[in-house]
Amino acid sequence: MGKPRILSGVQPTGNLHLGNYLGAILNWVEGQSQYDNFFCVVDLHAITVPHNPATLAPDTYTIAALYLACGIDLNDSTIFIQSHISAHSELTWLLNCITPINWLQDMIQFKEKAIKQGENVSAGLLDYPVLMAADILLYDADKVPVGEDQKQHIELTRDIAVRFNHLFGRDEPILKLPEPLIRQEGARVMSLADGTRKMSKSDPSDLSRINLLDTPEEITRKIKRCKTDSIRGLELDNLERPECRNLLTLYGILANKPKQTVIAECQDMGWGQFKPLFTETVIEALRPIQERYQVIIEDRASLESVLRQGRERAEAVAVATLDRVKQALGYSRPL
Ligand code: TYM
Repeated sequence: MGKPRILSGVQPTGNLHLGNYLGAILNWVEGQSQYDNFFCVVDLHAITVPHNPATLAPDTYTIAALYLACGIDLNDSTIFIQSHISAHSELTWLLNCITPINWLQDMIQFKEKAIKQGENVSAGLLDYPVLMAADILLYDADKVPVGEDQKQHIELTRDIAVRFNHLFGRDEPILKLPEPLIRQEGARVMSLADGTRKMSKSDPSDLSRINLLDTPEEITRKIKRCKTDSIRGLELDNLERPECRNLLTLYGILANKPKQTVIAECQDMGWGQFKPLFTETVIEALRPIQERYQVIIEDRASLESVLRQGRERAEAVAVATLDRVKQALGYSRPL
């Protein structure tokens, strides 16, 4: 028996923020030696909302370089670009035809994004979770490490796989059912501007998030201006102080300090004392990632070679699954 398989991905819309890092990528990095990992940059998902063609390819390379800079190890993991493997689009079409439309209309993220967008909601936005299901099912993934907000999409992936197996898996299941892998801490990083809202790439204000490639000056400015409260003494577990909870949780993870240590250290502090300490911690945690990123992004040939090899490895797995699916559906073989 080989190692269990992991698949996950991030969209190339802008660069990564602390939520993407702590909710997803850190989880990938920490567990990678136990698994056979496939990590893709999901650039097909990036056009489900209006996008800029001039920045799509550079953003895609930035995310791939950040995967490596964050510590993805090519001895354990394969990195590739979703649109380079056409099986992702093809399986999406096949799964579309067995997915009831109301399953998609019920997705929380679709409803939220559709409201934000107002008019001109594309069929692609509604179909986003089916493409995500295709990403996962193509690789027979056992586990999918993601932030809390993606849990419903993984449940949908399981529902689609169950339905497909029930309809077309005559003697044995064709598609493997994946499990979500969600961290206890960092699975839901909140906005710096409002501790009740998720940190998000689509928030119009860049002050609401810390990006992995922000300079020390930007980080300092964002933390200086972030929302706090006026209660003296800092707490980690008080649900009525969402900003305080969020910032102390981030501090604990980035400083690598257990909860009890953070509580003891911060309980008598005011914001004036905490903010400089937190700023320094964020800057120092991101510094090595930023240094590695600069080296990787400047060596385009090596990055392309990683992505080419990644595509070859990933495509072999994806094509085999797609064949199995098409056979189960009764398709004739290409001549
Ligand atoms: P994306 O790019 O929106 O998010 C990438 C990952 O970051 C996590 N995340 C967060 N975690 C904690 N706190 C936050 N504030 C926060 N914001 C984002 C997300 O949960 C995600 O893990 N639909 C996926 C991309 C995708 C995918 C896949 C993932 C496409 N196909 C197949 C896994 C498997 C998404 O949310 O991308």
